[in-house]
Parts: sequence; structure tokens; C-alpha cells
Amino acid sequence: MQTAAPQKIYLKDYTPPAYLVDSVELTFKLAPTTTRVLSRIAFRPNPDAQSRDFFLHGEQLKLISASIDGVSITPEITATGLTHTVPNAPFVFEAEVEISPETNTALEGLYMSNGMYCTQCEAEGFRKITYYPDRPDVMSVFTVRIESDLPVLLSNGNPAAKGDGWAEWHDPWPKPAYLFALVGGDLVNHPDRFTTMSGKDVELNIWVRPGDDEQKCAFGMAALKKSMKWDEDVYGREYDLDIFNIVAVDDFNMGAMENKGLNIFNSSAVLASPETSTDANFERIEAIIAHEYFHNWTGNRITCRDWFQLCLKEGLTVFRDQQFTGDMRSHAVKRIDDAVVLRAHQFREDNGPLAHPVRPESFVEINNFYTVTVYEKGAEIIGMLKRLVGDDGYKKALDLYFDRHDGDAATIEDWLQVFEDATGRDLSQFAKWYSQAGTPRVSITDSYADGTYSLTLSQHTPATPDQDEKTPMVIPVAVGLLNDNGDEIVPTRILELTEATQTFTFDGLASKPVPSILRGFSAPVILEHDQTNAERAFLLAHDTDPFNRWDAGRTLAQDVLIQMVREDATPDTAYLDGLLALLRDDSLDPAFRALALSLPSQDDTAQALVDAGETPDPTAIYRAHEALTLHIAQHLQDTLPRIYADMMVTGPYTPDAVSAGKRSLGNRMLTLMSKLDGGKQASQQYATADNMTQQLAALASLLKIGKGADELAAFEQRWHHDRLVMDKWFGLQVSCAAPEDAAKVAAKLTEHPAFTMKNPNRFRAVFGALKGNTAGFHDPSGASYDLLADWLIKLDALNPQTTARMSTSFDTWKRYDADRQTKMKAALQRIAETPNLSRDTTEMVTRILG
Ligand code: BES
Ligand code: ZN
Repeated sequence: MQTAAPQKIYLKDYTPPAYLVDSVELTFKLAPTTTRVLSRIAFRPNPDAQSRDFFLHGEQLKLISASIDGVSITPEITATGLTHTVPNAPFVFEAEVEISPETNTALEGLYMSNGMYCTQCEAEGFRKITYYPDRPDVMSVFTVRIESDLPVLLSNGNPAAKGDGWAEWHDPWPKPAYLFALVGGDLVNHPDRFTTMSGKDVELNIWVRPGDDEQKCAFGMAALKKSMKWDEDVYGREYDLDIFNIVAVDDFNMGAMENKGLNIFNSSAVLASPETSTDANFERIEAIIAHEYFHNWTGNRITCRDWFQLCLKEGLTVFRDQQFTGDMRSHAVKRIDDAVVLRAHQFREDNGPLAHPVRPESFVEINNFYTVTVYEKGAEIIGMLKRLVGDDGYKKALDLYFDRHDGDAATIEDWLQVFEDATGRDLSQFAKWYSQAGTPRVSITDSYADGTYSLTLSQHTPATPDQDEKTPMVIPVAVGLLNDNGDEIVPTRILELTEATQTFTFDGLASKPVPSILRGFSAPVILEHDQTNAERAFLLAHDTDPFNRWDAGRTLAQDVLIQMVREDATPDTAYLDGLLALLRDDSLDPAFRALALSLPSQDDTAQALVDAGETPDPTAIYRAHEALTLHIAQHLQDTLPRIYADMMVTGPYTPDAVSAGKRSLGNRMLTLMSKLDGGKQASQQYATADNMTQQLAALASLLKIGKGADELAAFEQRWHHDRLVMDKWFGLQVSCAAPEDAAKVAAKLTEHPAFTMKNPNRFRAVFGALKGNTAGFHDPSGASYDLLADWLIKLDALNPQTTARMSTSFDTWKRYDADRQTKMKAALQRIAETPNLSRDTTEMVTRILG
């Protein structure tokens, strides 16, 4: 057990830094277990400070020497930092510390991955590199010298000088320490150039290990150039250094990191080729490259005052990367994809023990707050703001934001103030989206009389941990009205719901219309609307808003599934006929049709049952999903081969959205056909596919019907040398396993020679897939709970951040029956009681247990 309760940090306790930093000079003498870091930091008292205490963060550092203004000192050192008396005037602090990158398995600070040195400093990793005020409101200009025999030595900013065994970098833009980065390795680059809108020539590089990775940079490079252009065109922001470097590393806790001028990427988030990457991989890579690039303005030029403001950079940057993907691909499909993620993960978080506001009020470990709530709900808040103030208002506000706050460490208050100043709108009630946790429920009643249609909307947000009392939010509800023929008689308008209950009227209507509510998913809320299946089938067939058209099918599917779980019912034919009509409608985008044909996840169905006041049984939900998939396959049987054939793109693979949409619908057909043909078509697709998208989908279709053993072996044989492809091989077996086998399959894979806990991608491949196999994870034996707990306990000693993140697999424990609850709780308690459990994981399991 933890000896002392971990310290909680509160937003309300914020105080300005006691000292500011004018400049930092760092020298790194790289060595695997004995890297020396020399620092020379010019401090000056902060005129706005409330104290003169001098404290520098520092963890796991061996201090060799320190001085102030050239006079050697012996500072007082604790587990978290260093203190000493200092002059009441500007002074220079110097130190030399020793660190051990090779033994750094937490992948935070300076560490080694495949013989390459790299860093990850966000959020609080710089303090593992040297003593420093490691807080985002201390911004400074960094000059870095790296000494090493490795051929490639990189840091932030522009290259300053280099020679044999050393290189120097200078970053002219003041930045917080979390944006510091360093890379040293035997790397090759994929170079390119970009000319900015003001005519500045920028050198671009993607750095990878020599080998076949070199062939996999072209797509990422193209995505980078598109991102640079888009930010100029849409936000008027151009790049501000002579060089932009991206480095791919295999061992990385997250997807990627926006270090100034030197982005570091998980290799899975940048390397791509048709043979090794799926369409989904290509799309994710394009989005992540854009996201990290966009941080150059939203995050780096304007950063966060403190970590409670994390959504200021992440919510906004996610919103920007979503806009970008919509512009590059399809707005309708992107909106649906984002809503699926939000509902599956953010609503789940909001409904459970980990619920927290988009701007949390306290934390123990900030790494635990890089959540779907901060990110995706944070992005939704910006979407709502834009809907409320309009496109022009949004543009004015953003221009003012960049003007007013360039170079600042800003807050959510600053952000909202620019919207108020640019548009004259009072946002005091809207601001509650940042402080009130939980997903609002909006319920609908309507009536029609004498040509007037009345829509009454009521809002209610359920209690969340630490927040019992909720008050009404500002909810933009986009509504359109259709007549019985499916014609749009009232085009989309935004109703602003600000009170607990409000009625909106529409006049001059000849008959009672069919409402289409929350078009485009205009707010991150749950609609409670008692519609009949016939009304939903009507919207599925006719809604002019693509999001709501899709959503009508989704709600219908969910209702059908719930009926099937409750009473073994056969599915409503209105739904099946609706799907058939949609599938046959060749005027519809294949990607959209594929989405309309997909079912809600089993976890979504479990949540829907909880919302209906029932205790979900994952095994019964699994059976209902299987049964419905079979019913759909049978009902569409005659059409499947025709659409499948139409969707087989000929010619060389390209990852563009149109081709990917076709493959997506084709693969959906394949999954359904496999339920009927014993996997004949899937075996053939596996054998002939020239790209990973179709090969992997074929293999998945086979595994899901209990076949594919030979293909699985052949796949391993062919791809054993490629880590990223092998991650798919590991993951697929677990996600496609029958529920009763999932734990066994996962356990067996942990004995495979290529399984390693030290690589987060590999660990997540197995255990992320186990969580994703909902019925398998919740198998009544409890075997998956035990297996995951065993491995999280082992992983915590090496990598607390990834362990804490993965412990959220247990966050739904209160949903389930007494037996499952007991088993999940026991697993959580076993983790909680592990000696020397990290602060990260301790905080998470404590919160999950409640
Ligand atoms: N700043 C984050 C990376 C990060 C996250 C650093 C957590 C430290 C702790 C980066 O900008 C980011 O958000 N990356 C995402 C991908 C993005 C497309 C949402 C990631 O890594 O998953
Ligand atoms: Zn980010």
C-alpha cells in the first residue's frame, strides 16, 4: 500500500511562478546509462509573483554539481525537486546531472528505443531530464548542444552549428519545458520542402530507422504538406521556423507529440504502406500529423497557463484536425465517425466513476487527464461555440485569439473572452460546459394544432462523482422538419435550449411534420425521443441530414438489439427493409452505406440497457449481435454479391477516401457473406488481396466464423519481421475470439516470443483488444479480469502511464450483475494493493473503485 496519500493539486490554488526564465542553455553528453545534462538557466524574479521561494522540479536525477552566479552550492534535494536561497535579482543557475535513458522504461523524459535516444516531456517529463521550473507558464528560449557519436542529432528550433560528434540547435520561440525534445540516432530521412504563404522556404524531414521504414514516409509527408497549406488557408496561420522534423519511434506511450519543430511520433502514427497499413491507419496518420502540426499555433505559440487548461490546446486542436479531415474527405462521414467515438468512449466515461469536467478542478497525476472528455468533448464545445456565433463570429474570435494571446500561456477564461469581445455574446452560461461533468439528456415532446407545430425540449444532467447538483446548460439543438413525402419543409435551424424546459413553435404548416432533431449531432447530448420504429425507418429512408439519417438507423438497430436481448425477438422488418433499400441506393456514398450497415458496439448496447434501468448481460448482448448480423445477412443475401463485386476497386491501391469507402462497404459485405458461405469468399479475398485493408478484413471474417487457422499462420510467416503488422496479428486474434476463448487466446499470446511488455503498442494490441472483445472481457468465468489485472500489475513497475490508462477497462464495473461486480472489484483491489504501485495507477484504481 501507498505510505502517504498522494498529493492532490487544485485549479483554485494556482499562483504565478516565483521566477521567470530568460534563457536556457543545455548540453547533453549522451550515454546509455550515464547521460550527463549540463544546464545554464538565466532566472529573474517574477514581478507578479506572490512568493520568493526558489523551487526547481527534478525527479530521478543524480546531481553532480550546481552553482548560482558561478558560486558552487549544495541545494536541498527531495524526491520531487530542489531548493536553495537565491539573490533578490536576476541570477544564473547552473547544474550538471546524470540520468540513465537505457533503463527508462516509463518512456517519459529521455529514454532509448531501439538504440535511439528520444524524449517525451509532456506533461511533466522534463523534470526527469534536469532541474527546472517544469510548468507551462514558464516559457523561455532554449539553446541545445548534443554530444554523441550517433549520426543524427536533433532538437527544437533551427540548426545552429554542427561538427564531428556534436550538434547545436536554437529555438527562437519562447516555450514551456514540456515542448522540449531531443533525438539522437542512426536515422535516415525522407526530405521535402514547403513554401509558406509569405514565401518562406521550410525544410521538412521525416526521420526513421534505416530499413524498410524508409518506403513508408511518403504518405505522412504529403499529409504534413496538406496540413501546412490548410492551416494557412483556413486559419491564416503559417509555419514559423526554417525546419520541421518528424521522428518515428517504436516505443511511445501515446500517438504523437507536438514538440516545437521536432514532432515525435509513435511509428504506428506515421509509417504507412498499402501492403502493411489499413485504410483506417492511413486516415489516422493523416489526422495525427495534422493534429500535431496544428499545435504549432494552438498549443505552442499559445500554450496553457497550467495543466487544468489542457482542453485549451487539445480540444481546439482536435476540433481543427476534425475540420481538416472533413475537408480532405467527407464531412458527413467524419461527423458520424466522431459521434461514434464520442458516444462509445466519452459518454461511457461521463456515465462512470471517472466522469470529470472538460476542465478538471483537481488531479493527482495529470497524465490521467488526457481523456476523451478533455479531448473529444473539449472539441465538441468548440463546435457548439461555432454553431452559436456562426462562421464569421468564429473567424473573428479566432483571429482575435491569435492576435491577443500569441506568446501567452492562456486560460479558458481568455478563450471565452475573445468570443465575447469578438461577437458581443454573453457566454457566462455557456462556460458551464467546461465545469459541469456528465452528459446532458434532452427529452422531446411535440404537438400539432392549427398549422402550428410545438416542440418542447427538456434538459437534465445526471449526477456525477463530486457533482450532485446540475444546472441547465446552453444546448444548440439543430432541427429540421420533413413532411410525409420526405420533403424538407423547414430547413435546419438552431434552437438554443438554455432553460430546464422550453417550447419552440413552427407556424404555417399544413400537417404534422416529422421532426429531425439534433442534426449533425449539434451538441454532445443524449436525445430521449419516443419515436416509433416506423418513424425511425422513415427518417432512415428520407432524412435530408446525413447524420440524422444514419442515426435513425442506429437508434433503430439499438432498439432491435434490446428487444432481442430481452426476449429473443426476431428483428423488426422495418429495420431490415430499410437497410436493404439503403444498400441498394447507389446514389449514396459507399462509406456512408457501410456506416449505416454497421451495428452499435456491444458496449453501447450495454450502456443503452443501463439507461433503460436494466442490468446488461454481455453474453446475451453478444448473442443478440450475432443473431442480428445473421438476420441482416439473410435479409440482404441476394444483394450482397452484387454490391461486393461493385466495390472491388480495380487498379493499384490508393488510400483516398473514395476508394477507402468502397473497400469499407465491400468488407462489410464480406463479413455478412461469410455468415452464409462458410468463409469461401473471405478465403479468396485473403489469397488475392494486394493490400492490408482487404487482407486483414478477410482474415477477421474467417476468424469470426471459427476458421482462418492456416491464414493466420501464413500471415505470421509473411509479416513476422514487421512490428506494426504483427501488432495487428496479435490484436485480431483476441478481438475475433469467441467470448469463452478470449482470455485463453490473450494469455497464450503473452507467451509468444514476440510479445513484450516494454512496447506499449504490443501490450495494447493484446490487452486493448481484450477490452474491446466486450463479451470476452466480461466472460462469466472472470478469466479476462484476472489476466488483465495480472498484467497491469507487472506493467506498472515498468510503465505507469500506460498501466493507468489501461486500467480504465474496468471503469464499467458498477453496470454489471453482482457476480461480475465482485470479480471486477476483486481484480481492481488486487491492483490497488500491489506494493509500490505507481501514483498514476493508484489514482485511477482508487477513482474507479469510488
Ligand atoms: N500533446 C499530445 C500528446 C501527449 C498526450 C503527450 C499525453 C503527453 C501526454 C498530442 O498532441 C496528442 O494529443 N496526441 C494524440 C493524438 C491526437 C490526434 C488526438 C495521441 O497521442 O493519442
Ligand atoms: Zn494534441
